[in-house]
Amino acid sequence: MRGLILPNNLAIMPSLIMVLVLLFTPQATCSQMATEVCSDGGMIVSAYPLASKVGAQVLEMGGNAVDAAVAVGFALAVVYPQAGNIGGGGFSIIRTASGADYFVDFREKAPLAASRDMYLGGSGKVIEGASTIGIEAVGVPGTVAGLYLEHERFGSIPWLQLLRPSIDLARNGFEVSAELAASLNSLERYSERFPGLKKFYMVGGKHIEEGDTLRQPRLARTLELIAAEGKSAFYQGRVAGMIADEMKMGGGLITREDLASYRAVFRKPVEGSYRGYKILSAPPPSSGGTILLEILKILEGYDLTSCGPLSLQSVHLMVEAERRAFRDRAEYLGDPDFVENPVSRLISKEYADSLRRTITGNATPSSTLQGSFNIQVKEHLQTTHYSIIDCMGNAVATTTTLNSSYGSKVLVERGGFLLNNEMDDFSIKPGAPNIYGLVGNEANSIAPGKRMLSSMSPTIVLDGGKIFMILGTPGGSTIITTVAQIIVDVIDFRMSVSDAVSMPRFHHQWLPDEIFYEKNAFTEKEMEELKTMGYELSERSSIGDVQVIQVVDSIRCGVSDPRGMGEAASQWCR
Ligand code: GLY
Repeated sequence: MRGLILPNNLAIMPSLIMVLVLLFTPQATCSQMATEVCSDGGMIVSAYPLASKVGAQVLEMGGNAVDAAVAVGFALAVVYPQAGNIGGGGFSIIRTASGADYFVDFREKAPLAASRDMYLGGSGKVIEGASTIGIEAVGVPGTVAGLYLEHERFGSIPWLQLLRPSIDLARNGFEVSAELAASLNSLERYSERFPGLKKFYMVGGKHIEEGDTLRQPRLARTLELIAAEGKSAFYQGRVAGMIADEMKMGGGLITREDLASYRAVFRKPVEGSYRGYKILSAPPPSSGGTILLEILKILEGYDLTSCGPLSLQSVHLMVEAERRAFRDRAEYLGDPDFVENPVSRLISKEYADSLRRTITGNATPSSTLQGSFNIQVKEHLQTTHYSIIDCMGNAVATTTTLNSSYGSKVLVERGGFLLNNEMDDFSIKPGAPNIYGLVGNEANSIAPGKRMLSSMSPTIVLDGGKIFMILGTPGGSTIITTVAQIIVDVIDFRMSVSDAVSMPRFHHQWLPDEIFYEKNAFTEKEMEELKTMGYELSERSSIGDVQVIQVVDSIRCGVSDPRGMGEAASQWCR
């Protein structure tokens, strides 16, 4: 079945030379199929339609992809508060039209008063929940510094103008969708512990419903301060004071000194190749790019095309590659300002060859690869990604996070924004799992001023030096395997991006030793066969929320994952 769909979100007419296509493929079994928006103009794909629209407006004003990325980042903090943020952190990959690549690291940091065993009780046992909820779970936020740095270096439109749409959305409000209303109301269960939260998710003393207007005057004021004074409002000025006061009242660790000393930094993206395509992705302190490239290097030695997507053989090979790469994640990776990361060895062909030799026809028990921990994936996760390309060909892939949905649930009341719970991404005790079930060791232990290891993987794929894909997703540890699966689906299985995004997903992360899979990924018979090969299987409701742009022959096709609420928006090139 094939349909023609006109995007209804476009405030700005795209230069449609191509049409917008919705395709069904026989192998795709996701309950909803992804819509592809194609044009030869600028393209923005984000997790919330209003944010994509803000990005398209900035491009229309003559802004470049970085201007749009800055505006989208702030807009998501207003309209997608479960993950969009000014109280969290993230990463961007920027590729300029002239072919220069940059990675912007605005990951949160441990406060200066943090210490290695701060989440362990007297007996050395992990204090349940201390790193995941409440004021002690908060890392020093990096988002405002990161967006500011991007703008300082690449922006072409005044900073103030880029914040204007977000200020308006916060002050005048916007109509809440059914999904956002449900998400905001889920905060109810935290309201006894954090009574201030009610101000955030209730309108006029009642629960928010679909169609209600959500106004956030305090957040609007905070954004006005940031618009007028730049990042110093957040790190030294009035907003810094609000955060420090909140910390003092709640017994948190972050001080004015932590905020004043926070810096976003440029790093070199991690670079590798997969079947002739060049991949640029996130270096440490994200594990994302390194583990993505390690997985792909192992897979490069197999003819996946002849196995077919979601076939027993391709799932087996991908899972075994993932298992080995995630073992290395736990072992070796951490903040490069504190520990040496053996990135070039992990993504080398020689290392991939040696790992491939250990893959047999059956599952390799994770316990035989190295130490074993009995762990569970406990909670759901929130991060968000946006992909942008402008008319000149500048591209940005940004992934940003509060960690869990609504982060630590700590609201900076006077500022109207939530703070992250990113401290849980540290290895709080060697071998103790975080909320994603990920384990780690000394490389990712807590130290004052250190960045916690991430899985975020904003990624740009190049074909012959030209941009081929810009992509990323939320999903904690599943970010890496979701990005890998999309790349394999497009490159090995020659799927369109909409088909690739619609495919059911699966994931393995060494520990726990299980394949997590979405409903319909496998038939009953395939599951029986996988079990016979030695696999344990565990169904997950949904994995990821991919926002991707593919460029073929100068046509940009944007796809927002049907698992989420996002949308692609395009803009006319003059
Ligand atoms: N907080 C999720 C991540 O950074 O991987």
